[in-house]
Order: sequence, then C-alpha cells, then structure tokens
Amino acid sequence: MEQVVDKALRGMALLKVRDIRHWTDRTFSFHCERPASFRFRSGEFAMIGLLAEGKPLLRAYSICSPAWEEELEFYSIKVQDGPLTSRLQHIREGDEIVMRPKPVGTLVHDALVPGKRLFLFSTGTGIAPFASITRDPETYDKFDQVVLTHTCRQVGELAFGYDLTRRIREHEFLPEVVGDKLVHIATTTREESPAMGRITDWIRDGRLAAATGAPLDPATDRVMICGSMAMLQEHKAICEELGFVEGSNSEPGQFVIEKAFVD
Ligand code: A2P
Repeated sequence: MEQVVDKALRGMALLKVRDIRHWTDRTFSFHCERPASFRFRSGEFAMIGLLAEGKPLLRAYSICSPAWEEELEFYSIKVQDGPLTSRLQHIREGDEIVMRPKPVGTLVHDALVPGKRLFLFSTGTGIAPFASITRDPETYDKFDQVVLTHTCRQVGELAFGYDLTRRIREHEFLPEVVGDKLVHIATTTREESPAMGRITDWIRDGRLAAATGAPLDPATDRVMICGSMAMLQEHKAICEELGFVEGSNSEPGQFVIEKAFVD
C-alpha cells in the first residue's frame, strides 16, 4: 500500500493545513504551508485535493494568497455530493492536503496590457483569485484605481470579501501601498442588502459608472472576470460589445476570464 501511495504522489507536495474557517454552510477557506520551492504569480490556480484510496483526487483552485505570502490560502464551495469538496470541507488543522506544484492561469498581470483602472468582477467563490491580486503591490503600481466587485445570492456569502478588505486595511504594509485606490462593491441578488443586483445589470444601467466615476472603456480600463460559466459568458459578451479584446499569457489584451472551479 505504501508503494502505491508513493507512486501516485510522485511530483505532488503534501501540505499541512494550518487553520480552517467556515463562512457559511456553502463555503469555507483554509491556510496551509507553502513549500519553499513553490513559486506562483498572483491570480494563478493550482490543482489541490486529498488522497482517496491512495490516489490524489484533485481539482483546480485559485490561490487566494498573494505571491509574497509565506503560506497558501484557498477558498472553496461545499458540494455535499461533490467527490472532493464533500471530504475537503471536513479537513482539520494538522491534516495534509495534496498539491500539484504547477501553478497556471490567465488572471495575471502578464495577460493584460497597461491601463489606468483595473476591474475585478467576481461572483461567489470566484473572488478567490482577486484576494491574491488585491494584495499584490504590483496591482497598485500598475493601476490608479482597482474596483473589486463581488456578487452573491445571500448577504452571508459576502463575508469573505468584507474580511479580505478588512485584512488589507489592517495589514502591516498594504495600507500604504493600496492608499485609496481600492473600491469594493458587494452586491446581493436574492436577499435584501444596501447594494442589490447583478454587476452585469449595473454595467448596463450606469450604476457601475456612477459608483466608479466613469463607464467601462477599453482605452483606460482592464478587466479580470471570475465566476460561473453563465456569468463569464455574459461579462465576456459585454466586454466584447464595448470593444475590449481578450488577453492571454502569450498575447496580453484588455480583459481576461477564468471560470470559478467547482466539482
Ligand atoms: P442570481 O441570483 O440573479 O442568479 P451562483 O451561486 O448561481 O453561481 O450565483 C452567484 C451570483 O452570481 C448570484 O448573485 C447570481 O445572481 C449571479 N449570477 C448568476 N448568473 C449570472 C450572470 N449571467 N451574470 C451576472 N451574474 C450572475
């Protein structure tokens, strides 16, 4: 049995879990140790998971931590009959997760051409890569304004985003780097809250322009999008209608997308 596990784990890293936080009955996050040799760019994702019958059961997860942080943070949905998250949601401090240490992704600065404002549009756990981007000093070197939008069905699901902005405000060096550049817009669609509605509707009816000072414009703005497939398609169509060109690592552009990863 030992041998089978060793073979299946070739090239994988085993990472000790440090703390777990359950945000709602649908989401949780955790920190784990970061291998000294593991390098990634803020906004990338990695394959992580657990050993199931001696074999790694992995899914793509955005890394919430910025590239400079000495530990790794992940934010996950709980799918009660999901092969991985039905188990992963029960991890405890001291348990080990498995990671394939090959980070990839398009929600990175390298995939965008320079601009003045950066829009980070997310729904649900799609905020995860932006927890990385909004804590990376490079973001504030490159942009004058950074607009993070987070839309969820219920108010309770916005907590991770509010805690993220609190962590930025209370951080040792980030407040000086961020200044007043970061704008956080949190909206709900199925429960009453101070700001309601899908951001796609906010873009169309002018509410986003009112909240940020000007309508989306490919001449000045760059966009990263992360959420469900339906959300991505709608945001992508809006960007393209406005004249934004999609970017990639090999050919940087004006907007980039990545789907939020669920099982
Ligand atoms: P809504 O409640 O109107 O469907 P989900 O949990 O289904 O992934 O949804 C997370 C959030 O994303 C919800 O607030 C949902 O709004 C919103 N959403 C779903 N589809 C789209 C879309 N096509 N464009 C923008 N937002 C969307």
